Amino acid sequence: MPTLAVTIADVRAQIARAKRNAQDARAVVGADFGVEGLTEAPGAEGERGALTRASDGPVRVALVPTMGALHAGHLALLARAREIADVVVVSIFVNPLQFNEAEDLERYPRDVEADLATISAAIAAPPHAAATSTDAAAPVTSAAPVIVFAPSVAEMYPDGKTQTKVSAGNVGNLLEGRSRAGHFDGVLVVVNKLLNIVQPDAVLFGQKDAQQVFVVSRMVADLNIPVTVEVVETVREDDGLALSSRNRFLDERERLAARVLSHTLEAADSAADAGIDAVIAAAQSASMGEPLVDLEYLAVVNPTTFLPVDDGYHGKAIVLVAARVGSTRLIDNETVYLGG
Ligand code: PAJ
Repeated sequence: MPTLAVTIADVRAQIARAKRNAQDARAVVGADFGVEGLTEAPGAEGERGALTRASDGPVRVALVPTMGALHAGHLALLARAREIADVVVVSIFVNPLQFNEAEDLERYPRDVEADLATISAAIAAPPHAAATSTDAAAPVTSAAPVIVFAPSVAEMYPDGKTQTKVSAGNVGNLLEGRSRAGHFDGVLVVVNKLLNIVQPDAVLFGQKDAQQVFVVSRMVADLNIPVTVEVVETVREDDGLALSSRNRFLDERERLAARVLSHTLEAADSAADAGIDAVIAAAQSASMGEPLVDLEYLAVVNPTTFLPVDDGYHGKAIVLVAARVGSTRLIDNETVYLGG
């Protein structure tokens, strides 16, 4: 079972306690086997992860920032976090600073009880229990304790909006930032605060939000924040639709129409050998003809700058798509290798 903390003081106390427990458990493991730096665990398979981590030096903490409404995409981050750390904090906080439409903020799903149940089920699931793509990420075999930090808006922003701003720079105004002014600045403020509150060794993000990964990684590098950014692949439904907390707003027809996003990316990927012009042509034609889908942008960027690739660019690129399906806004992306 995860434990719940709603105040900053409480989450800090719980992290300190969990770190002490992990440290004590290591001392016991060391004493049991009489070895320093144990790397292979004898005995039951289930114990192996814990014992292997016990040899890895200092107790490691990982943070998985979320806005709740947890699905298998979030659980993939949780599973990875428990592989790489001894103590995992999942934050659940719908951050008002990153919403620029009041209506979007209002209708964002909030149900911490359901999220706690989702996490409990995921961490209780036996290894390899997953059968469908929606719970493909579910088996979490590690023993790392999970602390859920679900603060209120008043706890995170006691004085309202922060006086101090964090700017995502130019990239913050492109693509997602263009249609959602100030969005990435708001993301960076809350990620910064969470990093300072939790002080993790690693923080995990999904490639699903590629531009978020980019701006957070730049902030960490630019400001020398002592944390490793770990990126997890996008988890998809069987038909390719990337899992998203917003998918629940799609009605049946919209849900079918939403497949256009991943089909667009597949078309782009198939054309990648022939170069950038072919990619854009293939993606554009795949994205058209679905009346319920209103394409907002289609872009191909250089992963090192997140700026559109130049004509004649060869190599790794990210194809990004954003669309409104009915009243729901969805995004997706795929990494391709441009030839031509
Ligand atoms: P949220 O949308 O809840 O997403 C939390 C994390 O889950 C993000 O890193 C996101 O990229 C990842 N994620 C979402 N869907 C995924 C999928 N289908 N596969 C893999 N990972 C997926 O992103 C945010 O919250 C917020 O901006 C946050 C970082 C918490 C700051 O408020």
